Amino acid sequence: MNVEAALPGHPQIHRVDGALHVESVPLAPLAQSHGTPLFVYSKAWMLEALASYQRGLAGRDYLICYAMKANSSLGVLKVFAEAGCGFDIVSGGELARVLAAGADPAKIIFSGVGKTRAEMRRALEVGIACFNVESAAEIDVLNEVALQVDQRAPISVRINPNVDPKTHPYISTGLKASKFGVAHDEALAVYRRAAALPGLQVVGIDCHIGSQITDAAPYAEAVERVLDLVETIEAAGIRLHHLDFGGGLGIDYRGDVPPAADALWARLLEQLDARGFGDRRIVVEPGRSLVGNAGVCVTEVLYLKPGEEKNFCIVDAAMNDLPRPAMYQAFHRIEPVQQQADRAGATYDVVGPVCESGDWLGRDRLLAVKAGDLLAVMSSGAYSMAMASNYNTRGRAAEVLVDGAEARLIRRRETIDDQLRLESASA
Ligand code: LLP
Repeated sequence: MNVEAALPGHPQIHRVDGALHVESVPLAPLAQSHGTPLFVYSKAWMLEALASYQRGLAGRDYLICYAMKANSSLGVLKVFAEAGCGFDIVSGGELARVLAAGADPAKIIFSGVGKTRAEMRRALEVGIACFNVESAAEIDVLNEVALQVDQRAPISVRINPNVDPKTHPYISTGLKASKFGVAHDEALAVYRRAAALPGLQVVGIDCHIGSQITDAAPYAEAVERVLDLVETIEAAGIRLHHLDFGGGLGIDYRGDVPPAADALWARLLEQLDARGFGDRRIVVEPGRSLVGNAGVCVTEVLYLKPGEEKNFCIVDAAMNDLPRPAMYQAFHRIEPVQQQADRAGATYDVVGPVCESGDWLGRDRLLAVKAGDLLAVMSSGAYSMAMASNYNTRGRAAEVLVDGAEARLIRRRETIDDQLRLESASA
């Protein structure tokens, strides 16, 4: 038996005699029993990614809130809930989901620019840890809702440090022109207003500068900017118990080398210590870095379509399953599930069946494939299934969670009946 080294960026995914395995489970038989497209996740990798943050923050007062928007499947949430994780939510739907997975409400924080009154009420009812408020207008509404239910809502204000995370514009969130957060120069006024309202209790400060950040420098800059504000706000007599630095740490999609979470946090904590804030509760909201490289999407090659200018490899997964290439021109590695050393390769655009030219998963990939083969779209644990849709009336894929040699179906494939159930053709 020839066991090869793990695939780049995917410590829990490797080949045995050329066959791709997630932990000890070979992917081909899984695809056979559950069909394709099929998402397969490694529990060990999720826990290892979490452990890196835990190591980095060890000995401090900290709370890791998994940004569940990255992958909100119940089976995945349960892994993090059982590991004692908190959660960063952005909707009432996410709140219901994460409670169903067994999360502790006291470890939930609620982000997002457009919380509704009903969502606020429900979050107060279950007793979440903190609302990350994003505007002066939201502060007034939250105050009103809290007073109606006779409570004080714990808040932190998401401030916009105006730091360029040097990532894709759609996933940069900390720049001045962004819809998120409160501008740095307005922060003090917003804090003063919040502190004066009877329905609110100021507990912290929050920022999040973007996603798929592969450099430590923007974090270091954001920390300095946030601490400048903490000094100003506390000088005005408003105590901030926790400092939330958001999520955003990148993963290796294509040879990217982001800092490891433990190394990054060792460095950021030095900055906090140097400025005398090392004793505060540190909150982080990682999403992608906890799940992105834990997952692959297995897809079957339906047809090869050679052409004069391009060869197409048409597979059964599409932009409705894996929206990142279409939305952000994102790169995901594509690997044969069974390596075929003796076959000649050709360069293909790997595309799905959806009726859009934007429906591609990979461009100009050298592959030795034929119809019926299985391919694995790598780094598909984050922002893939969570962003899946029913476009072209395609059912959403099934999901499997691997733990060692065990594979458990955590979501069955969506059927056409599932899709039609909410609709009516009668007048
Ligand atoms: N906290 C807040 C307030 C956020 O908005 C986000 C992500 C996170 C935490 C988690 O960020 P992460 O650690 O996952 O980078 N769909 C895009 C990414 C959108 C990120 C949205 N906000 C993609 O596929 O690249």
